[in-house]
Amino acid sequence: MTLASDVRADTALTGTTGLAEELQALYARAKARVGEDDLAHIRHVTAYGEAIDARRRELLRDGGPRAIRRATALEMMYRLMQFSELGHNIIHGSYDHLPGNGEYHSDRYDWDFNVDVEHWKTMHHVGHHPNTNIVGRDHDLGYSILRGSAGQDWYGHHAGQVAMVSALAALAPLAAPFFLSNIARKVEGHRFFSSYTLRTPARIAGRDARRRFVDEPFRSGWKTLPTLAANYLGGVTGYMSVLFLVFIEHHAGELELFTDPGPDETADQYYERQIRATRNFLPSTSMDDALARILAEEVPFADRPDLRIFYGGLDTHVEHHLFPDLPPSMQRQIAPEVRAIAARYGLPYNETPLLETVPLIAKTLTGLSAPLGEREFGRPRELFTQPRALLRRLAYGMAYKPLPESPYLDKPRFYNVPVAVLSAAPAADGQALSVRLARPRGWDDVEWDAGAYVSVRMTVDGEELVRQYSLVHDSTSASDAMEICIKRVADGRVSNRLNDELRAGDHVTLVGAPHSSGEFAMDAPTAPSLHIAGGVGITPIISLLRRIARETSEAGVRADATLLYFNRDDRSILFEPELRALARESGITLHLFTDTPSPRADLDSGRLTPELLERVVPDAASRETYACAPLVVVDTARDALTALGLPAERFHTESFTAPELERPADDGSRYTVRFARTGTSVEIDGGTTLLEAAGRAGIRVPTGCERGLCKACVTTKLDGTTQHEGDGPAQERVTVCTSMASSDIELDL
Ligand code: FES
Repeated sequence: MTLASDVRADTALTGTTGLAEELQALYARAKARVGEDDLAHIRHVTAYGEAIDARRRELLRDGGPRAIRRATALEMMYRLMQFSELGHNIIHGSYDHLPGNGEYHSDRYDWDFNVDVEHWKTMHHVGHHPNTNIVGRDHDLGYSILRGSAGQDWYGHHAGQVAMVSALAALAPLAAPFFLSNIARKVEGHRFFSSYTLRTPARIAGRDARRRFVDEPFRSGWKTLPTLAANYLGGVTGYMSVLFLVFIEHHAGELELFTDPGPDETADQYYERQIRATRNFLPSTSMDDALARILAEEVPFADRPDLRIFYGGLDTHVEHHLFPDLPPSMQRQIAPEVRAIAARYGLPYNETPLLETVPLIAKTLTGLSAPLGEREFGRPRELFTQPRALLRRLAYGMAYKPLPESPYLDKPRFYNVPVAVLSAAPAADGQALSVRLARPRGWDDVEWDAGAYVSVRMTVDGEELVRQYSLVHDSTSASDAMEICIKRVADGRVSNRLNDELRAGDHVTLVGAPHSSGEFAMDAPTAPSLHIAGGVGITPIISLLRRIARETSEAGVRADATLLYFNRDDRSILFEPELRALARESGITLHLFTDTPSPRADLDSGRLTPELLERVVPDAASRETYACAPLVVVDTARDALTALGLPAERFHTESFTAPELERPADDGSRYTVRFARTGTSVEIDGGTTLLEAAGRAGIRVPTGCERGLCKACVTTKLDGTTQHEGDGPAQERVTVCTSMASSDIELDL
């Protein structure tokens, strides 16, 4: 059985309330400051670009020592500026709102870069920005043609992606428009070979080739060959520098990928995803000095703009992804505020020195040309120890089919997964809601026992709440859906809200895969059993009864199970028709009770008492007993059955009310918690949870309930003993939210 707890899961959106509001307020302040000065700046940058390009042509015409090398460097800088500070930024609409914007309007700008602007807008504005790092929806550079993350599916052509990048580099200016149109066609749904992907790119590439390899070289008189060489090298370095900087944003080292959050992604979650999926880079001083020197020597220009115009908006990519239509100069100004906001919300502010990204990219592209997932990335030998899994990955990847079990996207596979609601129907006269949930992709191999539950995360009045709901069937009898029944409860903030609002087509967030508490495990469905349910407590019980009916029928025997089901009145009874059918068909004995007498003859009235138990189930003490009901009913049942002689270990109960965490008094003991993956350690006392210890070490652990119920935080314990284990069996995997140390501990974090 695969459980959420088997997966190190940290890629999911918490959507902490308030983030969007703060960021939108910052945006409003910054956007209001964009004005005539910014337009003047962009005109100034344009003039600087023209001066750089004029000097490049002059160098090629006049020749001289190092002319080719210098012309190449100037073209590289010209292309970087054209791409980032100018085209990319202007076409996002940074100046559209300003009067007198002239040529700097997103619909009018004549971009000196080998792309079709309409293809660019489709690929970048429609495909990439809203869907940043959502697998299957973001078709940006690293997610389709190249494989830039271990969470991404592997397909056949990825085996040759290093060679593909090299070929792209060799023909970069000419390949660029085809490359971009191929990403845009995925967004638009065009075929690989179509006039959409070929006609306009061919025109753009042809125009560039004519200028670069015919017009300029043959106009340069006897310097044809040096000009050809400089134009070729300038094109390759210019376009590859742009490609390199664009790739850094989301792929230099692993940034997070996300499953499709569905239409219900909140504004807070949207902004959080943008921050977690994006990276800034820190320019290299030595490289900048070299470029500044060349510019100072070659391009006389009054009031030279800051060198960061060559990176404009790519070095501040976090800010750009939050506010795509803010000019780069403004992104640079607000970067410290964005960093502070990210810190306040516990979000990373990804930043990497430019030159450090080179080996990271090389490692990423090379390593991911093999079908390695997140677990094996950097440790390829692990995959070769599983030849069948490897062959399966190769077979699916070569056939361009995603693997059903989704082995690459392990992290978000189980943690905070958005799950579609297939149907939501009122039950028990509107007192409950019967909900069928679709199995998310990658959950085909997830199994659960009778009595298992799921944990649903929901934000109510700004507060993150996690609630448990039992599945009403085990995975053997399930179709491809998971079914829960949510009963209204007095003051139930999540249950009542779900009853009021949840409809087919909505999404709910599951903290993890279904979990079975060992307490409610049923070993022998054919053995005599007693089931005591109260109200919505019938949901895990009906799952047990369905299993009993199925397995006794398969064994060709009648079920020897008795159900006592207590409800307030005859309108509150859940699953009554099915319970009666189970009783008829399998032999399960059914007793339905209501607190208030009902005129119906097939219902008894009364609450659970020892006398009632003895009268209705005379052999109760010999039955394996499962109780799920309000605490008072469970306590009465337990006391009565114990008095009748039922051993404690044969009384099973399930409760979603977690006991308060009892922290032992500080006896002066101190323990070291080591985090094996991160290589850090902290010292704690015996009253500190391991989750708190991880927080102190700056390690983020996925959590949900923080009460030991949802199992989102379950972590492998490599060494040491927790206080839980003092009273019970040793555990390899522990809920760190409720575990405290009673020795030094080593965790797989
Ligand atoms: S966070 Fe739910 S069990 Fe630890």
